[in-house]
Amino acid sequence: MTNRLIGTTNHGFAQYAQEEIRRLVPGVKFSVLEPGEVFLIHTDISIVEMQEKLRGQEPIFLRHVQPVTEEFPITKTRADLEELIEFVQGLGGVFAPGEKIAVQVRKTAGVKPEYTPYGVKEALDPILVQAHGVEPVVRGEDRVISIYLGKEALYWGISRPEDNLSDWSGGAVRYKQEEGQVSRAKFKLLEAEERFGLDFASFERALDIGAAPGGWSSLLLERGLQVTAVDPGHMDAELAKHPKLTHLKKNAGDVQFGEEEFDLLVCDMSWSPKQMSKLVADLLYSLKPSGTAVITVKLMHGKPFQTVKETMQTFEGKLELIQAKQLFHNREELTLHLRKR
Ligand SMILES: C[S@@+](CC[C@H](N)C(=O)[O-])C[C@H]1O[C@@H](n2cnc3c(N)ncnc32)[C@H](O)[C@@H]1O
Repeated sequence: MTNRLIGTTNHGFAQYAQEEIRRLVPGVKFSVLEPGEVFLIHTDISIVEMQEKLRGQEPIFLRHVQPVTEEFPITKTRADLEELIEFVQGLGGVFAPGEKIAVQVRKTAGVKPEYTPYGVKEALDPILVQAHGVEPVVRGEDRVISIYLGKEALYWGISRPEDNLSDWSGGAVRYKQEEGQVSRAKFKLLEAEERFGLDFASFERALDIGAAPGGWSSLLLERGLQVTAVDPGHMDAELAKHPKLTHLKKNAGDVQFGEEEFDLLVCDMSWSPKQMSKLVADLLYSLKPSGTAVITVKLMHGKPFQTVKETMQTFEGKLELIQAKQLFHNREELTLHLRKR
C-alpha cells in the first residue's frame, strides 16, 4: 500500500465513510489519526485515481479528503517550523508564479505543539511568496497545501480544492453568527446551498416544513423568496412580521396547498425518518415538476444506509435523489438534495 490520503468525517461517522470507500476501492486499508473522525487511507491505486473515484461517487459521510505526499516526524517544538520552512524553500517547479495558494493546517485534538496551526500558516505564507512567487489566499485558491499535525508526525499534501471534496480546512465550514440570527439551524441550509451548488435566489416560492423558530425561512426570505412555513411551534417574533412569510401554525399532516404551488420544498423536522418522509411524500403534489427539495434525515438507529434507502423508498417515483451528504452542520443526521420527477 504505497499511496495515502487523509479522510475526515463528522465525529463518530468514520466507520461509515470507510465502509463507503471500501465499496468504491476494494482492498483499501485504514489507520486512525483521531478516533471516530480522522484516518489515513492506504491504497495501491494512485492518489489522482483515488480522488477521481471519490469525486465521481462522493461518499455521504466523507467530509473532506487530502493527499499525503510527505510525512515528517515532529518534536512539537519550534524546530519543526524551521524544518518545514527549509522543505518549502527547497520545493522546485511545484508552483506557477502568481498561483493562489491556501495553506490549511489542522491538528489532532490533544496534541499541543509549541506553535498553533495558524502559526504554521503564518510561517509558510511569506516563504511561499519569497521563494515561489505565489499569492497566499484564504478563499478562492487554485490549490491547497494541506497540513495535518498528528501525534508523532506532520502530513503534507497539495491538491485542487475540488479534489478535497470541500474547500474548507478539514471540511469544517465556519460561518459567522449574525446579530439577531434566529437559529443555528440556518447554517445547515446555508451549507446545503453551497455544498449542493444551489442558488436559492433562483426560486420563487418555498414550502418550509418543520420551520420553527425560522432559521431556514429567514435564509430563504433573505434570498427574496415567498415562504410558507409549517410548524405547530412559534416562529421568531421579528421574523413573523416579514411580509413575504406565511406561518401555518399546524402539524404538516393537517395542511393543504394548491397543486404545484411551490418550486422549492425544504424540511428540517427532527422526527423519525419514516414519519417525516410520509408527511413530505403526501405534500409533494404542491411541488412543481423538476422542483427542488432539501431534506434533513435524522439518523436514529445506527443504520444510516438503510435509513436513506427506506426514505427513498417512500419517495419512489416522486423524488429523484441527486445527492445525500452529511454536512458539517449536521449532527446525528444527514441532508438529501432531491428533484421532483
Ligand atoms: C430542528 S427544528 C427546525 C429548525 C428550523 N429549520 C430552523 O431553521 O429554525 C424542528 C421543527 O420541526 C417541527 N415539527 C416536528 N414535527 C412536525 C410536524 N409533524 N409538522 C410540522 N412541524 C413539525 C418542530 O415543531 C420543530 O420546530
